[in-house]
Amino acid sequence: MKLRNDIPIIAIDGTVASGKGTIAYKLSEKLGFHYLNSGALYRLVAYHALSNGVDLAHKEGVVEAARNISPEFKGKQVIYQGHDVWPLISSQEYGNHASVISPIPELRSVLHQLQRSMIKFPGLVAEGRDMRTEVFTDAKVKIFLDADIYVRAERRLKDEEKIGSGKTLEKLVDELRARDHRDMSRDHGKLQMYVENGHIVDSSMLTVDETIEQIISICTSKDIL
Ligand code: DC
Repeated sequence: MKLRNDIPIIAIDGTVASGKGTIAYKLSEKLGFHYLNSGALYRLVAYHALSNGVDLAHKEGVVEAARNISPEFKGKQVIYQGHDVWPLISSQEYGNHASVISPIPELRSVLHQLQRSMIKFPGLVAEGRDMRTEVFTDAKVKIFLDADIYVRAERRLKDEEKIGSGKTLEKLVDELRARDHRDMSRDHGKLQMYVENGHIVDSSMLTVDETIEQIISICTSKDIL
């Protein structure tokens, strides 16, 4: 029988628009591992709190909301009271709500435990801000995904064009630069590129599949597959 300590964990984080969400999810599918989208948990707490009339500025109420969620992930779906709420909570609005509540230390601590309870056979791909640095420091594989800022802006541009926002490439580069700076300089859950035993994967010149292959070869070299 496999001991819990032997269950492979792949922790992934990276810069905004580096493709980390897509890559983490597809990697989990390819390996048949469980998938943890930690940002979705912060978003879900905001949703649960607001649905119960809790103001997000009320810290104790938000922490209580976190204690009461029992999230169920089905692939990319986030099941809440029998329904998939991912289409709603994946919005920019809920990203902002999550960003407002995410610095609360007690909230991080409640979600930390919840995230650890998701370590299950045959393995876990965990994506998000503090996966490598706080929650799964014992992960055998820690990946930081990055790409050239112009490549990331080009990827963003395609999404912006779909919604007709009119944003230019230059504008998106500026926004990404500002966001990188904010992410890397905040107090709690700061984005860190370098961690002990970590790997940096630059996807600028790679397709999604090639990026996944590169991560799989890192896993193989670490003997976890
Ligand atoms: O990755 P995302 O856009 O779904 O994250 C939403 C917000 O939650 C973002 O402000 C970062 C924060 N977050 C966090 O603090 N810790 C995590 N492990 C995941 C997300």
